Amino acid sequence: MEIFKTKSALEAFLKPLKASKKKIALVPTMGALHNGHISLIELAKTYADIIVCSIFVNPTQFTDPKDLEKYPRPIEHDLAMLNEAGCSGVFMPNIAEMYPQGADENWHIDLGKAEFLLEGEFRKGHYQGVTQIVKKLFDAVEPDVAMFGQKDFQQVLMIKNMLAYFHLPIKIITCPIIREDDGLAMSSRNIHLSPVDRENSLVLSKSLQYVTDHFNEFSLDELEEKAKRFYQGIEGVELDYFTIVNGDTLEKAKSKNENSLVALVAAKVGATRLIDNMIIK
Ligand code: PAF
Repeated sequence: MEIFKTKSALEAFLKPLKASKKKIALVPTMGALHNGHISLIELAKTYADIIVCSIFVNPTQFTDPKDLEKYPRPIEHDLAMLNEAGCSGVFMPNIAEMYPQGADENWHIDLGKAEFLLEGEFRKGHYQGVTQIVKKLFDAVEPDVAMFGQKDFQQVLMIKNMLAYFHLPIKIITCPIIREDDGLAMSSRNIHLSPVDRENSLVLSKSLQYVTDHFNEFSLDELEEKAKRFYQGIEGVELDYFTIVNGDTLEKAKSKNENSLVALVAAKVGATRLIDNMIIK
C-alpha cells in the first residue's frame, strides 16, 4: 500500500493506471477508521481495480472548534487497517496541501434547500465545508466511483447535489450502515462514549427500529411522537431531532405514499453528538 502526502505524488501514481484503463475508486474519510469504513473499501473493490482512501480531518466542516480539536487521529492503526483491507493507496495530505491559501478560503455553492434542514440547522455551514473538501479530493483523484456511508444520509445527498452543480462524471455509491451487535451505528465518535453513554446510545437505533417495525400500524405523526418518547427521562441524552422525511428532498414526509421515506435522528449522548437513520422505503 502506497502512502501519498501530496497531490502531485498521488497524481504520478494514478496517471499510468488511468492510462491502462484501470477503474479508480475513492473512499474519502477523516480517519479513526472502523468496520464501517472497511465495508466501504470492500464494496469499492466490486466497482474498481484501484482503491484510494483519503484520510484528512477537514477543518472547514467543523462548526465547533472543540469537536475538531478532539477528533480522534489514530493514524498507525488506520494505516494497518487499510493495508489489511487491501487498499491500494492512501492520500493523507496536510492542511496546507488542501488549502494553500488557508482554511478560510472562499467557498459557497448552491446545494439546494436540503442544505439548511436537519444537520444543516444544527451545524450551520457544515455541508459547504464537506462539499468544499470532497470537490478538492475529487479533483486530486478524479475517481470513476466514490464511496460514502448511509449513516451520513444528508451528506450523500449534498455530495450528489455538488456533483450535479459541477457536472462531474463520478458515480456515487452509498454503503449500508454497519452496526455493532447491539445496534449502535459504527462511528469514529463512539470512542468518546463513556460506559453509561454507550448504554444510553442504544436509544437511537431502538427508536429507529421501532418506527421501521411499526410503520404500518400508526400514522407518521404518531410514529414520530412514539419515537420521541424513547428519549424522555434518559439522563444525559438530549434529542436534537427525530423525523421521518422524504429521502429525496429531506422535507418532512406528508404522506406514507411518498416514494422514499427515511427516519433520521440526531441526539447528544453525554458530550458526544450522534446521528443515525433507517431507510423505511
Ligand atoms: O464523512 C466524512 O468522513 C467526511 O465528511 C468526508 C466525506 C470525508 C469529508 O471530509
